[in-house]
Amino acid sequence: MLRVVSELSQAFLTTSFIVFLSLMCQLLPHGVSGCAPSDRIALTSFSTNLDAQTNPWPGAENYSDGDCCRWTGVRCRRFVGFFGAYQQLRVVNLDLAGLGVTGSLPSSLDRLDRLRVLNLSGNSFHGAVPPELLRMPRLRVLDLSRNDLSGVLSGAGSGPSSSAGSTSGIKHLDVSFNGLTSLRPDVFQGLPLLRKFSAESNQLTGVLPGSSLSSCSELEYLNMANNSLHGTLGSTNFSRLTRLGALHLGWNRFHGRLPASLSRCRELRVVNLRRHSLSGPVPSSFRRLRALTFFDVGDNSISGVAQALRVLQECPRLAVLILTTNFKGEEMPGAAAGIRGFPSLRLLGIANCALHGAVPPWLRTSARLSVLDLSWNNLTGRIPPWLGGFEAVYRIDLSSNALTGEIPRSLTRLRSLAGGGNASARVRLSMSDYGVRLYDWHVERGQLWYDRYIPPSLDLSRNRLAGVIPPELGDLVALNLLNLSWNALSGRIPATFASLRNLQTLDLSYNELAGEIPPSLTGLTFLSCFDVSHNRLRGFIPDAGQFSTFPCSSFAGNPDLHLHGRYCGGTVRMPEHDGHFLMATIDIFGMPFMLGMISGLCATLFVHVVVSKSTKPSVH
Ligand SMILES: *[C@@H]1O[C@H](CO)[C@@H](O)[C@H](O)[C@H]1NC(C)=O
Ligand SMILES: *[C@@H]1O[C@H](CO)[C@@H](O)[C@H](O)[C@H]1NC(C)=O
Ligand SMILES: *[C@@H]1O[C@H](CO)[C@@H](O)[C@H](O)[C@H]1NC(C)=O
Ligand SMILES: *[C@@H]1O[C@H](CO)[C@@H](O)[C@H](O)[C@H]1NC(C)=O
Ligand SMILES: *[C@@H]1O[C@H](CO)[C@@H](O)[C@H](O)[C@H]1NC(C)=O
Ligand SMILES: *[C@@H]1O[C@H](CO)[C@@H](O)[C@H](O)[C@H]1NC(C)=O
Ligand SMILES: *[C@@H]1O[C@H](CO)[C@@H](O)[C@H](O)[C@H]1NC(C)=O
Repeated sequence: MLRVVSELSQAFLTTSFIVFLSLMCQLLPHGVSGCAPSDRIALTSFSTNLDAQTNPWPGAENYSDGDCCRWTGVRCRRFVGFFGAYQQLRVVNLDLAGLGVTGSLPSSLDRLDRLRVLNLSGNSFHGAVPPELLRMPRLRVLDLSRNDLSGVLSGAGSGPSSSAGSTSGIKHLDVSFNGLTSLRPDVFQGLPLLRKFSAESNQLTGVLPGSSLSSCSELEYLNMANNSLHGTLGSTNFSRLTRLGALHLGWNRFHGRLPASLSRCRELRVVNLRRHSLSGPVPSSFRRLRALTFFDVGDNSISGVAQALRVLQECPRLAVLILTTNFKGEEMPGAAAGIRGFPSLRLLGIANCALHGAVPPWLRTSARLSVLDLSWNNLTGRIPPWLGGFEAVYRIDLSSNALTGEIPRSLTRLRSLAGGGNASARVRLSMSDYGVRLYDWHVERGQLWYDRYIPPSLDLSRNRLAGVIPPELGDLVALNLLNLSWNALSGRIPATFASLRNLQTLDLSYNELAGEIPPSLTGLTFLSCFDVSHNRLRGFIPDAGQFSTFPCSSFAGNPDLHLHGRYCGGTVRMPEHDGHFLMATIDIFGMPFMLGMISGLCATLFVHVVVSKSTKPSVH
């Protein structure tokens, strides 16, 4: 009985409390308008500190409104306090990306104490990054990329002793594409929730802040590519970064060995350690990287190509493997070296290593291969006929080796290059699929410029190939580039080449080709670079279509080939290479078909960049 009474009275009390609360809510002003005064003051003081700020607020049009929640780039959220007794609109998101704002970053921004996202990317902010920004209590995303910020980046826990040890909740910190010159050694201290960090393309010097880095156990993405960091990587213990998925440290100056502790990062998909002075072998513990998809350690001094391949073949998802410019003068391992193959591989680059041996037989197991670059080695023997059996291969570069024999006819059946093929076999590969940017502005031998567009091409130049050119090569209608120069090919130029309607570059120079230039080639409207010099051609040079734009040097060294005095004037002109042409061609990346219309000059420079060929020694 007593229990019932007490339960009843409890219910009564609860009900009356709810009624009271809802009455309170009716009485109190509803729907507060305008941002909190403290936020407006913080934003106004930020705005007045900007340089040359003609508008009262960046992107101004709504400024006259006293409600700062309606200003450009500002987003507020309603916060309700004390059982609905008071409500406030607070600034939670400030996004001024790409508004052309200039000025320094005031530390007073930290008064926006409810701010979660601050995006100031793509402006002209200069000066230092105030450490206060990293300590803002609720900030989760701080994007300061693409500004002119300079100086030292210190972390949340650095600075005066009052702030030492303070932590921040930042998950995403981006300071890429600025002019920062160093990272404080403790920069990562106090950022225990950091998942994504990018300081790509700054001017960072010093060593990798390895010990504070290893405290970021949530880190998934680390990018410090294209800086001037030095020291060894081996001194960084990656063991605690168990969630690391992408490591972009390429284009720095690290030396020493590849860090074996990376093998603890079981979720690692992308490793980009391109262009350092790293040496020693690929650690055998890397075989545990089951998620590894992209591995680029090109342009280092790594040794043991057989070990590297044996280890990495255990990574079942490996799709892009770039080992170019390492292993000087070793032997290309064959099946006997315990290499079974790489079933998921789409791109293999082992160029410029002076490797001797044969085209490796284990490549056959890479059924999904799209791009193969084994140029600038000392490979001998024949081009294996099975190379023509790949469904998806659209770029083969075997140039600058010592390969002999004929061009195998099977190569003329490469599905991805032939007409009418299976559309799914024509999927093209892009480095950006793996979130990777490459930086080779100064393309050296055997380097890959595989950024957005890898042109369909077949480059067998500078080998010892003999015999005739198979006429069926004309079936590879998707080809942009065909380079068979510097071999001992004989016979005629196949008239079937007239069907290579996407061809931009055709180089058949320095062979023993005879007969006439097929007049039908004048129908190749995109052909911008044509070279048949130093053969035994005869007859007249066609004078229609693109042919009227080719320089005389394209035809030189064929004693019986008659030039049309009309445009050559009997003198041999060399093609000009100038910087403007390079710029123009880079601008139109991804639109390769415009190239043919731009110039008839043999823009070797362009070819070097796009086709990732290199400063090959000019032989005279
Ligand atoms: C600015 O005002 C216009 C109309 O007054 C509105 O459509 C627009 O969304 C406002 N912009 C912002 C960022 O609040
Ligand atoms: C910041 O804004 C730019 C431009 O809108 C955008 O590309 C970038 O992804 C934003 N940053 C973040 C961290 O969302
Ligand atoms: C690499 O970083 C430098 C600044 O240190 C920058 O000028 C350059 O543009 C960056 N390279 C690329 C390809 O972004
Ligand atoms: C790296 O860190 C792990 C885990 O914190 C630890 O077990 C290991 O001993 C460390 N290795 C080195 C070389 O310090
Ligand atoms: C590779 O071949 C080139 C030319 O054929 C030769 O000069 C060089 O010595 C060879 N390198 C090695 C390591 O065999
Ligand atoms: C096209 O290629 C895909 C995979 O390469 C294959 O599964 C499919 O059967 C092919 N289709 C035809 C019609 O050949
Ligand atoms: C073709 O290859 C040769 C030798 O590798 C090279 O020198 C030449 O520049 C290439 N031709 C074109 C047009 O790229």
